[in-house]
Amino acid sequence: MYSSVFGGITLDPALMVIPLDDHMVHRGHGVFDTAMLFNGYLYDLDAHLDRFLASASKAKISSPFTSRTLRNILIQLAAASKCRTGSLRYWLSAGPGDFSLSPKRCSQPTFYAIVISQTFSQHNEGVSIITSTVPIKSPLFATMKSVNYLPNVHSKMEAEERGAFASIWVDEKGCIAEGPNANVAFISKEKELTLPSPERILFGCTVKRLIVLANKLVERGLLRSVVVRDVTVEEAKDSAEMMFVSSLLPILPIIEWDNQPIGDGMVGEITRAISALFWEDIASGPSTRRIRIPYKNL
Ligand SMILES: Cc1ncc(COP(=O)(O)O)c(C=O)c1O
Repeated sequence: MYSSVFGGITLDPALMVIPLDDHMVHRGHGVFDTAMLFNGYLYDLDAHLDRFLASASKAKISSPFTSRTLRNILIQLAAASKCRTGSLRYWLSAGPGDFSLSPKRCSQPTFYAIVISQTFSQHNEGVSIITSTVPIKSPLFATMKSVNYLPNVHSKMEAEERGAFASIWVDEKGCIAEGPNANVAFISKEKELTLPSPERILFGCTVKRLIVLANKLVERGLLRSVVVRDVTVEEAKDSAEMMFVSSLLPILPIIEWDNQPIGDGMVGEITRAISALFWEDIASGPSTRRIRIPYKNL
């Protein structure tokens, strides 16, 4: 773990703590982000860091470090952890204070990061989902990755209570929003890849990369087009294929929604092709997307 409170990295689990008077702990005044560590490389860290700082700005938290310093700390932390495959999760908070609602007496913003050992593999099986009855977040809170994930936790719990993998949110206009920790994407029967508009959701770094990668399938003639627009529930349920898209998945096929099959109820050819493109990008993509961890330098 790295903590700006003690200004360094610790490998001792007993020291991996954050102060109880930190505004993020008792008032939820913090933001976070994640990046995948795969075979000794950090995948798409820069995109995640940009969103991290954008979330902090929306949450009115100023970073104690520049983006370059945050990046260096995260790379050093990954190296110190000796972990080759897992996830890197990091938080910016308004910092320790006097337990008040106002952050005025918080001494200074804090930065924490941790490496979580984890394994990843391509998802060949599909999951079933339900429509969430937990109220959707308002646009301001949905578009920043703050630590206030109570609606997301309840939405996931609701799905598990009903025997599904996850729930997805539908907005007041009847348009698709997102899952509790993933975006959704649809393949229409006309082979159009559609991604819901960004206004009501956390528009993911993975979805942004998907837009670039999916163009290869357009060139190969497997897809007709890639579009970002509002998607109604009726249209979405009539899709040929559907999937969750998120940095630690990166693609998880959805084969059933509210007890109805999506398409023929099987994992589709285009979902498999998109998933394969991602795994190629993660394992051997361009150096602009993959940072090699300098394990030996420590
Ligand atoms: C609510 C929500 N939407 C979407 C995403 C997908 O974002 P990304 O692709 O950047 O992981 C996440 C990921 O954590 C999330 O929590």
